[in-house]
Amino acid sequence: MTAIGIHDIAIATGHHVLELDDLAERLGVDPAKYHVGIGQDAFSVPAPDEDIVTMGAAAAKEVIDRHGVDGIRTVLFATESGVDQSKAAGVFVHGLLGLPQSVRVVELKQACYGGTAAVQLALGIIARSPQERVLVIAADVARYDVDTAAEPTQGAGAAALLISADPDLIEIEPAAGVFTADVDDFWRPNDRSTALVDGRLSVTAYVDAFVGAWDDLVAQGGPGYEDIARWVHHQPFTKMAIKAHRKLAQHVGQPFDESELAVGFTYNKQTGNTYTASIWIALAALLDLDDELDGQRLAMFSYGSGSVGELLTGIVRAGYRTHRREGRVRAVLDARVPLTVDAYRELHAAGAATSEDTDRPRVTTAPYRFAGVRGGARRYE
Ligand code: CAA
Repeated sequence: MTAIGIHDIAIATGHHVLELDDLAERLGVDPAKYHVGIGQDAFSVPAPDEDIVTMGAAAAKEVIDRHGVDGIRTVLFATESGVDQSKAAGVFVHGLLGLPQSVRVVELKQACYGGTAAVQLALGIIARSPQERVLVIAADVARYDVDTAAEPTQGAGAAALLISADPDLIEIEPAAGVFTADVDDFWRPNDRSTALVDGRLSVTAYVDAFVGAWDDLVAQGGPGYEDIARWVHHQPFTKMAIKAHRKLAQHVGQPFDESELAVGFTYNKQTGNTYTASIWIALAALLDLDDELDGQRLAMFSYGSGSVGELLTGIVRAGYRTHRREGRVRAVLDARVPLTVDAYRELHAAGAATSEDTDRPRVTTAPYRFAGVRGGARRYE
């Protein structure tokens, strides 16, 4: 059977960064609570002329620049920060990138899980038509109300994945573990631009989904725990992955050294929560920074509140190191412009989506920008 999986990954994030040391000082919180207690150092903040479309398009452009558009007949855009209730964000990206018209585009949503659902759909399309390639984009802006416990766990970012036969990076294995439970741990009603969250419940719901997805993977004939060399987790904050993994290790009666997860935290500690993109940004960090993955099996756990969890496994392709993008991701992270807490809170207050006509100031240096709203419609350039 032809190997199908992830051929390329590119990452984009917001123009600005807020250091959590600065937020801690403002709120009178011990910075160790953020760095150690939740495991985050900073979070990305979009400029007024950035959103999921501009970040998603920037990540997708990198993939298209490297591979061209041949064989791409499907663009799947996953987000829970949608900019329109009808038009898929991916259609804006299709226009910005000048993709051929013989391409289908659709948006997917189930909280942070949507990107993984998109990858599953892409795998199915390629199983049927191995000559095709599918562009998957996952992009989100994590926004909570200021002065809430969730404020330090915000963030922004995007990942673009090219899914194909005979992939350069990872062959995804057929068995997957899934787990769904109807739970109100985190959600965003239509009249809100910030999410509502029951923080404690969200942690237990994530852990339950992880253990449940593992049990289902075993029932589906997936690999044993000892056959998995590395783990990649959705990371609403990096400590979440450690909490969940500790529980799984107890469940299967295995030892767990939390330092094993550290490499996969490298980029997410800087971007903050990127919802649908988080797991793929973690995967990019592992592929960029771990030298010993040739032929190794990874397990990738995706969680979307509400809730759906899915555990995928994949084999890293020999030669993955020749496709590394570490310098590129570091450059993107280092190029972010720091904000003071006051400036961040001003941007936060102005961040709600609107259909009123507006012009956005030119701030971002990313390849695409949100120019404003005209006649109720969003304009990008
Ligand atoms: N030094 C070191 N550690 C410290 C400390 C200090 N000075 N002060 C506190 N801590 C530790 C605490 O002991 C605690 O650690 P443990 O959890 O290991 O016990 C940790 O810091 C957090 O402190 P609190 O328990 O007081 O938590 P909080 O009330 O500040 O809220 C939160 C933390 C629940 C994660 C909150 O930030 C939140 O609600 N975030 C948004 C929701 C979220 O991300 N949930 C995760 C799962 S949901 C999901 O995956 C979907 C999604 O993307 C949203």
